Amino acid sequence: MLTNLKEQPKDKILGLMSMYREDPRPTKIDLGVGVYKNAEGVTPVMRAVKAAEARLVQQQTSKAYVGLAGDPAYGAAMTDLLLADSVARERLAAVATPGGTGAVRQAFELVRLANPDVRVFVSDPTWPNHVSILGYLGIPVVKYRYFDSETRAVDFDGMMEDLADVTSDDVVLLHGCCHNPTGANLNLTQWQAVIDLINEKGCLPMIDIAYQGFGDGLEEDAAATRLVASSVPELLIAASCSKNFGIYRERTGLLIAMGEKADTTAITQGNLNHLNRQNYSFPPDHGARVVTEILTDPELKADWMAELEDMRLGMLALRQQLADELQRLSGSDRFGFIAQHRGMFSQIGTTPDMVENLRAEHAIYMVSDSRMNVAGLNAQSVPVLARAIIEVGI
Ligand code: LMR
Repeated sequence: MLTNLKEQPKDKILGLMSMYREDPRPTKIDLGVGVYKNAEGVTPVMRAVKAAEARLVQQQTSKAYVGLAGDPAYGAAMTDLLLADSVARERLAAVATPGGTGAVRQAFELVRLANPDVRVFVSDPTWPNHVSILGYLGIPVVKYRYFDSETRAVDFDGMMEDLADVTSDDVVLLHGCCHNPTGANLNLTQWQAVIDLINEKGCLPMIDIAYQGFGDGLEEDAAATRLVASSVPELLIAASCSKNFGIYRERTGLLIAMGEKADTTAITQGNLNHLNRQNYSFPPDHGARVVTEILTDPELKADWMAELEDMRLGMLALRQQLADELQRLSGSDRFGFIAQHRGMFSQIGTTPDMVENLRAEHAIYMVSDSRMNVAGLNAQSVPVLARAIIEVGI
């Protein structure tokens, strides 16, 4: 039977990881997969995470199963981080998931249970795995314009025009902050217009938020999610702790489903638990427990916030340095968008051939859609990248 299997399409982000690893050139620069790196090229275990793990080793007395939704304290702590006081807790059902990807997958499965004919509207472009998972689940994808390839900012008019086709049977997937892959984000006035459209159409919004704290700050990056939560009847939120806690391999995510009234919460919660049970039973616990320990201990939380803020400011400084360097080399402002974008990524806007040239001739790795991970740079590699960008003719 196994001989019937066909080769699966390569994941364009993960494929780069092995290519980079095998590249013998000592000057190679990895701007591919979305993993934070410090100036030494290391993805550090954050100080607060180390401290919380040490406590767990000392204090944890059992590794018995917790519950299908994960530890309620984790759900509560993450909900506070994401939503603050924007919505009454009785309206929220939530499950811990294996990473943000697990939350995204469970969200799509949940809406398919609720409406077998659901379509999901996604930004063009979006994180490729959104489209891939939807395809795998057989859920139709409708793309809405998002990015203006000239200005490298949000094409808001195009987005609103395309979202005019949404119906009450559809889901609209939005990135809460730090849009992946473009780095271009809606401002709060634009978010309000999207909310008005959602309420007019009666569709279900879903927010994927994987980079809270990497853009304009922890609170600022949650502002849009909170505004949506306080303005619409129903909402799904898929959150990831991979990046802002640096616990990628611990697979720590959360799916929140907000209903219009508290009386549907138990049924929704039951459906979320059921989906966890069908897919993997109990969600991973270690990362969730580390996050809870940090978020509920004022000292650990303050240290985590300080380190996260340093990471954020470091990425902003690299953005500015690169934009300045490109301004100097090109004599034009056409790369100014790099300093305007927020989060880990910028899509610099070039062809797959030029991206391939960067890899072949300069050992610089970025995703074929020209997404670069700014955190893969440091003060020394920025001028190298800038020269290479100009040399390959971007
Ligand atoms: C990325 O976009 O590079 C990250 O979210 C990692 C992944 O799973 O694709």
